[in-house]
Amino acid sequence: MPQPWWRSAVFYEIYVRSFADANDDGIGDLPGITSRLEYIRDLGVDAVWLTPFYPSPQKDHGYDVADYFDVNPEYGTLEDFDRLLARAHELRLKVLVDIVPNHTSDQHEWFKAAVTSPDNPFRERYHFADPRPAGMPPNNWTSSFGGAAWSPEPKGPQWYLHLFAPEQPDLNWWHPAVPEEFERIVKFWLDRGADGFRIDVAAALFKRRDLADRPLITDRVTGAARFDSAFGIIDQPQVHAVYRRWRQIANLYQPDRVLVGEIFDPRRHSRYILPDQLHMAFALIHLPWDATLWKRSIDTSRRAMRGPGAEPTWTLANHDVVRPVTRLGGGSTGRARALAALLMLLGLPGQFFLYQGDELGLEEVDLPDDLRQDPVFLHTGGSQKGRDGCRVPLPWHRGRPNAGFSTVAPWLPVPMAWDRLAVDVQAGSGESMLGHLRKALAERKRLAGGLPQGMRWRPAPAGVLAYSRDRMTVACNFLDRAVLLPADGRLLLGSNPLVGVKRGALRLPANSAAWLLA
Ligand code: GLC
Ligand code: CA
Repeated sequence: MPQPWWRSAVFYEIYVRSFADANDDGIGDLPGITSRLEYIRDLGVDAVWLTPFYPSPQKDHGYDVADYFDVNPEYGTLEDFDRLLARAHELRLKVLVDIVPNHTSDQHEWFKAAVTSPDNPFRERYHFADPRPAGMPPNNWTSSFGGAAWSPEPKGPQWYLHLFAPEQPDLNWWHPAVPEEFERIVKFWLDRGADGFRIDVAAALFKRRDLADRPLITDRVTGAARFDSAFGIIDQPQVHAVYRRWRQIANLYQPDRVLVGEIFDPRRHSRYILPDQLHMAFALIHLPWDATLWKRSIDTSRRAMRGPGAEPTWTLANHDVVRPVTRLGGGSTGRARALAALLMLLGLPGQFFLYQGDELGLEEVDLPDDLRQDPVFLHTGGSQKGRDGCRVPLPWHRGRPNAGFSTVAPWLPVPMAWDRLAVDVQAGSGESMLGHLRKALAERKRLAGGLPQGMRWRPAPAGVLAYSRDRMTVACNFLDRAVLLPADGRLLLGSNPLVGVKRGALRLPANSAAWLLA
């Protein structure tokens, strides 16, 4: 039986605001993406995920949705979306839309109605509650962006719940109008031809019904008081019925539509990634450069899979985390490690998500505080830098203003040093990060049909990981010095020109990886 298209697919995350700017206003847009789809096709991925492009006041750059059935004028129109989709399909690329079911914008029609009067029926679609004495919030839950998860409504006497920014009120999924509305939204985009969804904070939709305080406990290790993490406020069992419904809807379409949940904890994966729920969720590897830790993490993610043939959806990054090159040491060391890590994960069975700019080896940008826009920065009074540093616009052309992103100053400045990392510079060289990735993705595609879903670890010296999938062996050297391993076959790919096979031995320089084929 042929594999479904998504089984070994590589997805490319497009952060819409920063990918490509067609009308030179400094902000990425849908026509910009359409104009660059050949670049994505040539990279060798199968699908793209577009971050939210709906009408939105942009308090969380699109994750505050004011209207789920339209396109933000800054980013284009519904017709621009249709054109993007049609061109992507011509190029055999699938397109996932980002759906944000946990919260709306405070500028969504529902919330605007809800706060008009204390008896407005739309209030039941959110979580409103009376404050405690002395103007204390209704309970002690905290927002992921800092501070209390509750804010007083603009005019009335009550407070409303927001697990993220105050401009992102949480929906009350216990109210039947909410699941109904989201089924309409799912159908709307699938009918337009979208190939599926990335589901924002997918485990959070239902909050515990009693809205009870999180108990404070004493940490057994540090002795400090902290919230009891075993006391669940999200991830209620009712959420699974929602995804069963969405899966039934998705199953009505051909070719396969996919549902990807933003869920990172492997302990949750076995309850969500099932033949009648989500197709996948993220196995994000966000660890120091240490072979033992990476092996353990890969094993944990694989063991969490339950469905027949299910394998993890590997990823190193997204628009919410520090760029891998920076995380793994920065500069040329960070770049070598990030590339080695990509080759190691791309050899594994399962799906892969690549975040835009990681194919160029971009680093986290240390922006000056007055340019930062992330609500995480704003709501923590700057004590957390936030995520702007990984959202800087892409460099396309060396020697042009703003590295070719736009002629006017982009919404976040492109560093001068990115000129030499521009797409047109790297595209010409097989030894660039981009060149290596293109080669790896092409080999992955060529081998995909012939390789088994499983993998097994091979014996390797400390600081080195090696695994096999049938005829293919992948090895990755985490050490800062070269190692020699017995080689099983010929070299297919090396993450740097000094990787080589000679007289039956594979030479892996510091921080490098290789693929061999017997
Ligand atoms: C997800 C998004 C993140 C956003 C948050 C709230 O984690 O990836 O960017 O801020 O949800 O919607
Ligand atoms: Ca624009």
